[in-house]
Amino acid sequence: MAVDTSRIIGPIILLGAPGAGKGTQAKLIAGHYQIPQVSTGDLLRDNVTRGTELGKTASSIMARGELVPDDLVYGIVSERLRETDCDRGYILDGFPRTPSQAGWLDALLEDKFFDKPKDEKWHPLVIRIDVDYNELLLRLTGRRICLANGHIYNIHLKPPCKDAICDKDGSQLVIRDDDREEVIRERLLAYESQTRPVAEYYAGRGRLVSVDGELPVEQVSDWVFREIERHNPHAPGQK
Ligand code: AP5
Repeated sequence: MAVDTSRIIGPIILLGAPGAGKGTQAKLIAGHYQIPQVSTGDLLRDNVTRGTELGKTASSIMARGELVPDDLVYGIVSERLRETDCDRGYILDGFPRTPSQAGWLDALLEDKFFDKPKDEKWHPLVIRIDVDYNELLLRLTGRRICLANGHIYNIHLKPPCKDAICDKDGSQLVIRDDDREEVIRERLLAYESQTRPVAEYYAGRGRLVSVDGELPVEQVSDWVFREIERHNPHAPGQK
């Protein structure tokens, strides 16, 4: 079926350190604009849970807080972006994470890959969510995730009504394997050395905007929605 170009949102890339709120904001953007969240962390964790070959390789790397090799990530990203729910756009959460991944994504988008309409809107909007180091530590050590649908809570900042139970679907809340303090430190180091330069990559191409991720969740999402609509004035959100 032909894609209605007037309803294209295009790719939105969320950059930010572990705990900055990429997943939280990606879910709100997805609900507002009806485009999917494509989280490389979630895709990798799903492979780990299913015990695929990729999951077996990625599991120990993720447990150490290091980045999974690019070629493994490229495979899952290109496969996911081929799905038809990405036809109007998508939110990349956790990808790209190195300048090489950013270059790979640019090449993919330039090729148009799968008959995308030749449209300016396919230039990604890159939104970096800025949060201070100590706040990141508080967020990551307090995070709890619901087993059924990945709803995100925080025992310090956004506790569930009932201890360890998801308000939305009643499933159990768990601590992510890599939210242990020694692994958190490694993840933050990997961000500083490998991912921070990605912001420079996009800033140099005039595509980067930053938002203050220390504001309350709703104020961050209002800011994010404003940036999306400035980039794409006809973005059809759910009012
Ligand atoms: P990934 O799953 O991508 O994790 P991450 O980047 O470390 O990010 P997080 O999911 O920890 O944080 P977030 O920014 O989504 O924050 P959240 O919204 O949950 O990656 C995991 C691993 O997979 C990597 O270490 C690597 O091994 C591998 N991997 C993934 N992608 C890869 C790639 N491209 N290449 C190679 N390897 C890759 O929020 C955190 C907490 O803060 C929550 O409790 C939330 O409730 C709270 N919170 C959020 N916003 C606010 C706010 N505004 N105010 C107060 N609290 C808030």
